[in-house]
Amino acid sequence: MVLAVTGGIACYKAVEVVRLLMRDGFSVQVAMTREAAQFVTPLTFQTLSGQPVATDTFSLTEESQIGHINLADQADVFVIAPATANIIGKIASGIADDLLTTVVMATQAPVLFAPSMNVHMFENPIVQENIRKLRRVGYHFMEPVEGYLACGYEGKGRLPEPEAIVEEIRGLLKKKDLAGERLLITAGPNQEPIDPVRFITNRSSGKMGYALARAAARRGAAVTLVAGPTSLPPPAKTRVVAVRTAEEMRAAVLERFADATAVVMAAAVSDYSPVQVAPKKLKKTADALRLELKRNPDILEELGRKKDGRLLVGFAAETDNVIANAEKKLREKNLDMIVANDVAAEGSGFEGDTNIATILDHGGNVVTLPLMTKDELADRIFDHLHALKTNRP
Ligand code: PMT
Repeated sequence: MVLAVTGGIACYKAVEVVRLLMRDGFSVQVAMTREAAQFVTPLTFQTLSGQPVATDTFSLTEESQIGHINLADQADVFVIAPATANIIGKIASGIADDLLTTVVMATQAPVLFAPSMNVHMFENPIVQENIRKLRRVGYHFMEPVEGYLACGYEGKGRLPEPEAIVEEIRGLLKKKDLAGERLLITAGPNQEPIDPVRFITNRSSGKMGYALARAAARRGAAVTLVAGPTSLPPPAKTRVVAVRTAEEMRAAVLERFADATAVVMAAAVSDYSPVQVAPKKLKKTADALRLELKRNPDILEELGRKKDGRLLVGFAAETDNVIANAEKKLREKNLDMIVANDVAAEGSGFEGDTNIATILDHGGNVVTLPLMTKDELADRIFDHLHALKTNRP
């Protein structure tokens, strides 16, 4: 991929973008305008990316080492971050008078702009018209973020955070095979209150469900994530509905079920909750305390009874007889797919970034997967879901 850096104070954040991309295994070719090199030296980008930085069309060494048409042809995605009002205006006007504008003109890769400038510059009708014009012909834009600007103003003009830019790049590179799907995904634990300061919960961190939401959004689905309490940042391009108890999760899921084309239940829903919730903090007067629990509704089972063409995916968190127990849940809850999750195995299940799973479907197919990251597993789940949908009679 090519990261083009233009001259603004936010250039320093582009350094972090390169670092994150390299960490994720991207091959990054950096191109800079002369003005950008006033803020950060090409040497910084060269050291981080491990590749010479393109700065000048008329440098004979650069042209033989990199070649501006080569750069345009080889890019699978072209990102301009930060993008100044000047570069937006030049590209919108068809000007190709330096290395960067020439390469953008020649590339057939998707081009993403991450603008950053003074708030009044950004609001200027000429800049806005240029952005609309470029969007109309297929260029992609990220919105600048509101906040304190280096010029002393407060407002919309900050470069989005490097993580957000990298996430947008991942999205652009993904095939959009889930476009048109409306996915309802659940994540995280529930908290069932005992009194105002205590609750019953489980070890779910929400990481698996959030990875599913990220993967689905990258692949073009409209995603609603119903999430129990977690400390995770909201995934990009996802509507997050925060809930606490299993009852709240049930209500939030049922309300949105009619509009969904598929549901993936990765949440570790509480099976039981206290019969009585004490209105005031329980005092430690007795030697023992007995809690009476009642069964919570099984959300997935309820969806299975009224799925009406929607695809239903469940998880089975198991510590023994993993496959047999998952098969039973697949049948009894009328699911299309179940992800059998051995939560006792090393590197698998709750809290960590990796998981081990076997995918089973209603057609009797069984796919045993090795240890992988939750992000990778999310993609494997959607590959299977997509195949099920495509092969439907
Ligand atoms: O959040 P992480 O830390 O990343 O951990 C991931 C995970 C271990 C929570 C996840 O991979 C997982 O296995 N989720 C399912 C946990 C679970 O509740 O499994 P279960 O076997 O008890 O339930 C079977 C299915 O029915 C699940 O899809 C569950 O969401 C659903 N269910 C369960 C109980 C209930 N009352 N209502 C439900 O809908």
